[in-house]
Amino acid sequence: MSNVIISPSILSADFANLERDIKRAEKAGADWLHIDVMDGHFVPNITIGVPVTASVKKAATVPLDVHLMIENPEKYVEPFVKAGADILTFHYEAVESDEKISELISYIKSFGIKAGMSIKPKTPAEVCYKFLNELDMLLVMTVEPGFGGQKFMENCAQKVRLIREQNSGIIIQVDGGINAETGKICKDYGANSLVAGNYIYKSEDIEQAIRSLK
Ligand code: DX5
Ligand code: ZN
Repeated sequence: MSNVIISPSILSADFANLERDIKRAEKAGADWLHIDVMDGHFVPNITIGVPVTASVKKAATVPLDVHLMIENPEKYVEPFVKAGADILTFHYEAVESDEKISELISYIKSFGIKAGMSIKPKTPAEVCYKFLNELDMLLVMTVEPGFGGQKFMENCAQKVRLIREQNSGIIIQVDGGINAETGKICKDYGANSLVAGNYIYKSEDIEQAIRSLK
């Protein structure tokens, strides 16, 4: 048992029974709910947007951890804040300059919520070092963003160790192919938040699945 934040990805939930699946995850011990927003441009898939996020907010009691896999994230900060995001994570690769990244972090935090930044598998850990003191969370993707149910890449998880060496206090989250075994690898590298979609929602016993990640 550790202080790791477990954030089930509702991308693997039954969208026709979203309220039921939100409550199920909360009852099973979810700390946050992870909402995967995809725009068909930054990633090839299209998933959840602002209205569904607002509906999830009505049904949820835990914080909403919103992962923006979209271009022009700055345009959508306010709509997602209004929809109820508590943690808003954009992608490093979606912002054109370091200056714009700092502006975006401040802008997200100006709404009184947490700011996160994510790096894709091919992006080196070093690019985020200069932002670690400004960010609340750094999300290390352990699959290529776009789809649930992909295979965990351990070489991506190794970036967690490098980032943890730079900053002891930041939340380091991992996302993609996480289960009890790969989650343990990430925690050993220094991750303290795990996202899991398929492992949690496709399991027979959600409570046991969440417990096994802690
Ligand atoms: C992938 C998403 C993930 C996804 C994880 O692009 O960012 O959050 O839902 O799903 P699993 O845990 O099934 O790999
Ligand atoms: Zn995600």
